[in-house]
Parts: sequence; C-alpha cells; structure tokens
Amino acid sequence: MQNKTENYDLLYKLVLIGDSGVGKTNILNQFTRSEFLQDSKTTIGVEFASKNVTIDDKTIKAQIWDTAGQERYRAITSAYYRGAVGAMIIYDITKQLTFENVDKWMRELKENADSSLQIMIVGNKIDQRNLRQVATDCAVAYAQRYGVAFIETSAKDGTNIEEAFKNILQQIY
Ligand code: GTP
Repeated sequence: MQNKTENYDLLYKLVLIGDSGVGKTNILNQFTRSEFLQDSKTTIGVEFASKNVTIDDKTIKAQIWDTAGQERYRAITSAYYRGAVGAMIIYDITKQLTFENVDKWMRELKENADSSLQIMIVGNKIDQRNLRQVATDCAVAYAQRYGVAFIETSAKDGTNIEEAFKNILQQIY
C-alpha cells in the first residue's frame, strides 16, 4: 500500500488526552480514516496515526498520538509528550466529571510538556444533545480564562473533526 503521508514539508506531533471514554480514539479514527466504532475498546498504551493537511501550500503531516485515559494503561508520560507541538484535551459533553478533570489534564501538560505547546479543549459527543451536562458557555469561559482554543465535536457524525485539527495545526504553523 502506498504511504500517503510520505511527502510533506513539516511534521507536527499532536497528542490527545482526556478521561477514559471521552472519545479520543474515535476522534483520531474519524479524522484519519473516516471511521467510527460504537463499541471501541479502551486504549492500552499508545497508538498513533497520521494525516496530511495543507496550509498555505505547505503539506503538514499531523502525527497524532492517542493514549489511554485510564491511569493503569498509560504509557511512560515523558515519551508521550516529547516533541509534541499541540495537545487536544478532550471531554465528554454528556459527563460533567470529564469536564471538571480538564483541570487535571492542564496540570499534566504543564508538568510534562513544552511550555510553547498549543492547547485546544474539545467537547466531544455533541450528537447526544439530549444528554448534555456541560454548557458550551462554561467551556468557552474556561478556555478564555486559560487562553486556549475551544471547539465542540462529534466523532460519531464527524461534526467539526476536520475543523478541530485544521484549527490547531493553523495555530501551530
Ligand atoms: P480510552 O481509550 O479508555 O481512554 O477511551 P477513549 O477516550 O479513546 O474513548 P473511545 O474513543 O474509545 O470512545 C468511548 C465510547 O464513546 C465508545 O463507545 C464510542 O463509540 C463512544 N463515542 C466516542 N465518540 C463519540 C461521539 O462523538 N458520539 C457518541 N455518541 N459516542 C461517541
């Protein structure tokens, strides 16, 4: 099979973090393979996938790392963040606790990642609007307070998935 990401001008490493079950693996699969799995298994260790995106006539290879949200399955943190230029902190809009834990993930980034890392907070599962527990306004206010980007997505129907990655890559570029 031909490697479609072989030719590129820039390589950007992005990491996906957030509690277990918020949809990290499905966001990655939707972006890189246009795929969604209703009952995907919890990630053990680290997985990654790549996709090329064009910005200003430059081909940017986004190498996206997905790790386990569950502490016991997490790989060595320092290796995970090494060389990363962007991070998406993902929460589930139908689970308040996953939003409260965004704080914990912000701290984890502060302790382990480069301070120039671009951060985007992502509220996932907006297709489940009847089950929403986290108001958009609260998340916007939080993101503004910390000066980071924010977007809401659905890995299920694909809403804003491309936009989320394009926006963070644009910020980094
Ligand atoms: P860990 O690997 O345990 O850290 O979980 P994860 O964050 O990678 O979550 P994963 O992508 O495995 O998704 C968890 C569950 O949520 C699965 O049953 C998915 O089908 C479901 N899911 C993920 N994204 C969405 C979404 O946008 N909408 C809906 N309705 N379900 C989603």
